[in-house]
Amino acid sequence: IRVAVLKGGPSAEREVSLVSGAACASALRDEGFDVVEIDAGPSLCADLSAAKPDVVFNALHGRWGEDGCVQGMLEWMRLPYTHSGVLASALAMDKIRAKEIFVMAGLPVPEGFLSTADAVRKTHPMEPPYVVKPYNEGSSVGVYIVHEGANGPAQLDAQMPDEVMVERFVPGRELTVSVMGERALTVTDIVTDGWYDYRAKYTAGGSHHVVPADLPEEIFEACLDYAVRAHKALGCRGMSRTDLRWEESRGLNGLFLLETNTQPGMTPTSLAPEQAAHCGISFGQLVSWMVEDATC
Ligand code: DAL
Ligand code: MG
Repeated sequence: IRVAVLKGGPSAEREVSLVSGAACASALRDEGFDVVEIDAGPSLCADLSAAKPDVVFNALHGRWGEDGCVQGMLEWMRLPYTHSGVLASALAMDKIRAKEIFVMAGLPVPEGFLSTADAVRKTHPMEPPYVVKPYNEGSSVGVYIVHEGANGPAQLDAQMPDEVMVERFVPGRELTVSVMGERALTVTDIVTDGWYDYRAKYTAGGSHHVVPADLPEEIFEACLDYAVRAHKALGCRGMSRTDLRWEESRGLNGLFLLETNTQPGMTPTSLAPEQAAHCGISFGQLVSWMVEDATC
């Protein structure tokens, strides 16, 4: 089977995707697949036509690669591809739309709304603590947390897109659950000194993962349940990873779903491969399953 691994691309998560793509390509080769790696650029369509793959392994993250754009092109080319389809990808990438879907599915999310970078620079959009982030990026790119007692609104950098999401900050623990097919793998507790930002995510030792998370059974089970329901509500396919936060003192009422990632990171420090390994699924088995599960 000939597999084209798409990596890189023009999004803010390009560097992460290059590492994800290289790791997946190497593992697929070890599993006996005939692999071609493609750095996704403007000639992607021609590159795929020349490569003639049986399956496309999508290792892109962020805009254009995770938001339905590439998926639409692959549908058009009738090439089976891994992970979610056009609609689920587009919905999950838009944090406001995804929130609306989660609310309709009865899932608890922190209060949040769309605003503009200009507006939130001028005045607090809600009582601190709150978070301001691009409504359609991943890997914590451009995330600002405004804490209680802050003198003024966040001074967002000039790169911040005009449309931003404002969301109530949930203090407490950062949890995540990967869903493979429709099976929730386990819960990981992500322990960092400060905020789980881009640096903590991709620096060795930048964060510490507790797998499985040491949580009361009720909370652990709720995390698994929310992740599967979020995956289904968005219409995801293959693997997804849902991020949650838990304010311990509030028990089950303090558990909130933040977002579902349709193209979870596949780097050596990534959470989804680590959860799969915990369930006895090696990295090679995981990427092979993704190729077998690919469709269009
Ligand atoms: N957006 C990164 C790749 C993740 O969620 O794993
Ligand atoms: Mg995320």
